[in-house]
Amino acid sequence: MEIKKTWYKEMTVYQIWPRSFCDGNGDGIGDLEGVLSKLDYLKDLGIDAIWFSPLYPSPNADYGYDIADYCDISKDYGTLDLFRTVVDEAHKRGIRIIMDLVVNHTSDEHEWFIKSKDKNSPYHDYYFWRKGKDGKKPNNWKSVFEGDAWEYDPQLDEYYLHIFAKKQVDLNMDNPAVREEVKNIMRFWLDLGVDGFREDVITYISKKEGLPNGIPLPVGTGLEHYTNGPHVHEYLEEFRRDVLDHYDCFTVGEAPMMTPKLARTFITEGDNQVLNLMFHFQHMESDCFMTDWIRTPFKLRKMKKAFSTWQKEMYGDAWNALYIENHDHPRAIDRFGSRKYHKQSAKMLAVMYICQCGTPFIYQGQEIGMTNTVFRSMADFKDVVTFNNEKVCAKLGIKDDRFLKLASKATRENSRTPVQWDDSENAGFTTGTPWFPVNPNYHEINVAAEQDDPDSILNFYKKLLRFRKENEIVIYGSYKEYYPQSNELYVYEREYEGQRMLVVCSFTDKPVRFTAPEGMDLSKAKLVLQNYDVVYNSNVFLTKPYETRVYML
Ligand code: GLC
Ligand code: CA
Repeated sequence: MEIKKTWYKEMTVYQIWPRSFCDGNGDGIGDLEGVLSKLDYLKDLGIDAIWFSPLYPSPNADYGYDIADYCDISKDYGTLDLFRTVVDEAHKRGIRIIMDLVVNHTSDEHEWFIKSKDKNSPYHDYYFWRKGKDGKKPNNWKSVFEGDAWEYDPQLDEYYLHIFAKKQVDLNMDNPAVREEVKNIMRFWLDLGVDGFREDVITYISKKEGLPNGIPLPVGTGLEHYTNGPHVHEYLEEFRRDVLDHYDCFTVGEAPMMTPKLARTFITEGDNQVLNLMFHFQHMESDCFMTDWIRTPFKLRKMKKAFSTWQKEMYGDAWNALYIENHDHPRAIDRFGSRKYHKQSAKMLAVMYICQCGTPFIYQGQEIGMTNTVFRSMADFKDVVTFNNEKVCAKLGIKDDRFLKLASKATRENSRTPVQWDDSENAGFTTGTPWFPVNPNYHEINVAAEQDDPDSILNFYKKLLRFRKENEIVIYGSYKEYYPQSNELYVYEREYEGQRMLVVCSFTDKPVRFTAPEGMDLSKAKLVLQNYDVVYNSNVFLTKPYETRVYML
C-alpha cells in the first residue's frame, strides 16, 4: 500500500501546558515570555511543532479549558502581540504552532453565556437551556467532573447543561449560528498563522435529540447520548469544508472511548476524512478501568493489544497519534516504568511508543523523566476533578488517608507541576512563588543536569527524535508484533522498502530470556539504539531491567 507522505506525519509534537512551563515575569505563572526563552531548547530537542493547551482568557475553573474569550490571550500568559511574536519566532526555527480548540463548552463567564440568560436573545439557543420536568432536572445526566450535569438558574427558572464543571457550559452545536462562531474562531487563528488545532473532546459536540435519560453511572450518566453523537461527522465535515480545506493545516481530535473501527470513520484519508488524527485512550487503560481513578495492576498485554490494534487498523490510509503522557494523566514512569530504574525505564518507554507508526506527542517534562509529585494533605490539591472524586469516593467509603493515597497516584495534577529547568530555587521555573509547588525531586531531575550528561534521558530523546527523522522506516514502515502473549516484553518489527527494524522493550526488572524471532539473525544486525552501555550480537539473551534495543536488519 502506498502511504501518502505529508508534513504532519513526519513531525514530532511537544505539548506545552502553559501555566507550568516557564515563568518569564516572576509572578509564579508560566507565560509566553517564558516560552520564547525556551524555543531554542525545543529546537535543540528536535521537535517540529508545539501544541499549546489553552492560552485564552479564562477564570480557570478547569485551568484554561473554560474559555471566556476565544480570540485573545490570557493576561496571565501575555498579549496577542506577544503570541504573534511566539508564532513568528517558532516558525523561524521550523516549529509549527497548534492551538487547543475547546468548543464543546465555554466558560460561564463568556459573553455568549451571559447574554444567553435573556430568553429573547439569540444567544439563549447557543446553550442547552431547559425547563425542569415535574419539579426535577431535565434528565438524569451526571457531569463527568462535578455532580449533576444540570445547573439551575432561579431568575430564568431553567437549567443549563454542563458535561464538565459547572463553569463549563455545553454549547448547542445544533444551532447553525454556533457552528459559524466556531468557524470564525478557526479562521481567526489560522489567519494569524497557526498551523492547526487539537480539538478538545470533539466527539462530544453532538447530543442526541431530546436529551433522553442515560444508563445510571457513578459519574457521567448520559454519555452514551453524546459520545460520537448523531451529527458529529456532519459538523466536523462542515468545519473542514468551510475552513480547514482552505489552509495548509492539521487537526487532532481528542476522543474518549474511541475504538479503531469508529476512528476510521473520522480519519480515513479521502473525501470523507474529517480529522487528521485522533487521540484515543485505549493504551492508557492498561493500569486502570475507564478512568485513572479506578486503578488496576498494570498489564503490559493490555497495552500491547491496544497499540497493536491501532497500528494494524490505521496502517496505509489513516494515521496514529502516539502519546503516553499529557496534562490529563499521572506521569508515565510511575504507571508503566520504574522509579528505581528511572533512567532506563524512561528511555525504554520513549522507544516503545516513538518507534511506532504515527505522529509522536511529547508532554512537557517527559523528555527529562519527570515523575509524579508528593501530596501531603488535601490542601495540596487544586483540580476540580480531584475534588469531585473526593465526593464520589466518600460515598463509597474511601476517605481521608485512603483517599489521599489514591488521589496521589491517580490525579492528573501529577503532570501539572512546574517544569524542572535546573536545581536553583523553584527549579528555575520562576523567580517568584510558583502557583503550584515544584516536585521536590528537582535537585536530581532537571534540564540543566541532563544537558550536561551524555547518558541522560534528555539526550536520549534528542537521539531518538533525530533517528526518527533520518530513517523513513520509523515514520512510514509497516508494523508487526511478536510474542503478544508476553507480559514482560514488547517486541515489534517495522518494515519499509526492504529494510527491517526490530524493537525490543522489557517492562520488568527481572531478567527475561529473549529469542530473536524466527528467521531473524541479530548477530548480523546493527544495534542503533539502546539504554545500556553494552554491545550485543547474539540471537538469545537475558534482558536487563527495563532494557530496550533497536536493531536495523
Ligand atoms: C479534555 C481536556 C481536559 C479538560 C476537559 C474538559 O479532556 O484535555 O484537560 O478538563 O477536556 O475541557
Ligand atoms: Ca508569569
